[in-house]
Amino acid sequence: MNFNMENIKKDFPLLEERKITYLDNGATTQKPIQVIKAIEEFYKKYNANPHRGAYSLSVEATQLYEQIREKIAKFINAKHSEEIIFSKNATESLNLIAYSYGMNNLKKDDEIVISIMEHHSNLVPWQKVAKITESKLKYMYINDNYEIPDEEIENKITDKTKIVSITHVSNVLGTINNVKKIIKYAHKKGAKVIIDASQSIPHVKIDVQDLDADFLIFSGHKMLAPLGVGVLYGKKEILNNMTPFLMGGDMIEYVHEQETTYAPLPNKFEAGTQNVEAVIGLGAAIDYIENIGYNKIQQIEKEVIKYARQQLAKLDYLTLYMPSNEENHCGVISFNINGVHPHDVASILDTLGICIRSGNHCAQPLMRYLGIDSTCRASFYFYNTKEDVDNLVKGLDKAYNMFKKYITKG
Ligand code: ALA
Repeated sequence: MNFNMENIKKDFPLLEERKITYLDNGATTQKPIQVIKAIEEFYKKYNANPHRGAYSLSVEATQLYEQIREKIAKFINAKHSEEIIFSKNATESLNLIAYSYGMNNLKKDDEIVISIMEHHSNLVPWQKVAKITESKLKYMYINDNYEIPDEEIENKITDKTKIVSITHVSNVLGTINNVKKIIKYAHKKGAKVIIDASQSIPHVKIDVQDLDADFLIFSGHKMLAPLGVGVLYGKKEILNNMTPFLMGGDMIEYVHEQETTYAPLPNKFEAGTQNVEAVIGLGAAIDYIENIGYNKIQQIEKEVIKYARQQLAKLDYLTLYMPSNEENHCGVISFNINGVHPHDVASILDTLGICIRSGNHCAQPLMRYLGIDSTCRASFYFYNTKEDVDNLVKGLDKAYNMFKKYITKG
């Protein structure tokens, strides 16, 4: 494909329509016209409930749905397409693992290891598993550079560890964790490893076989796809030994009055009618990403993030929360105007058409660890430009100048 940076925003109707500076891609990305059209085409030509009908329309809907499962398997280099399970979102994928694997495989005094930078979706389910199974939940903490040091990995992951569940990229700090190294170390100790790739897969190529991840999860909507579809990858032999999380239609083989046998993978974990339009949209989103190519995406993003890091570092009224090594940093930049509440900053930016997220970013334990309540967060995707960064800087200067007379030096 002839990728033309000048025209890229033209593929995104909302960005064309609203003329905003959209810097909340960590929360959700905007959708290209190709994704929107794929959904429209599905409803105009193929809409029927997959796996439910013997008539050709339903068979075609089933084929489309299953082709996208195969596309995703290739996209993340899974060995088998039945290792791909569709869910509602990353949170549901993590809950599925917690309930179906965690609850049934952990016992008293076993240990679950996560990091202090986890999103609540990769934290609260493990608290529940730990409570119910009487296992222990342990945290790997970060250093002053917002990275997990090697000693922390080696001290926390021990022979007692049965599960390590860690984000690939932090949704607050943008830190890229060395998940390959963590997986290798955890496997030596006999633990299973779950990777939350929600914030990484929009930006970097994922290869589950190269990583040797036992499970890897992500959501579609942070990588151009519609809201409401998530993916769970799991190694076939592990998924085969897990009992389903949700019970109901299409996940069964035979149902008797008192007993049920379950369908084979992947249906075993897909109870009820699925969000087929979102799956179709996810297929189109993957096509879009692959047409540009991860090399190009990274080249564009690295340049814009480098520029953002440089420009924001010049603002002496800001505190930045990000690793100093730009090679270990991706996607998001969190910051505070010292003495000004992030919600106030975000509101002032909003008056200039600049969208950022402010708050605790579903990472309250991390905020507490950093000794703050909240941050502002600008999060980038390949359609963002240096001009977007300049707009952000202008907006921050405006916010600072409005508030500076009220800022008390601590
Ligand atoms: N998890 C998303 C975020 O970090 C919603 O904004």
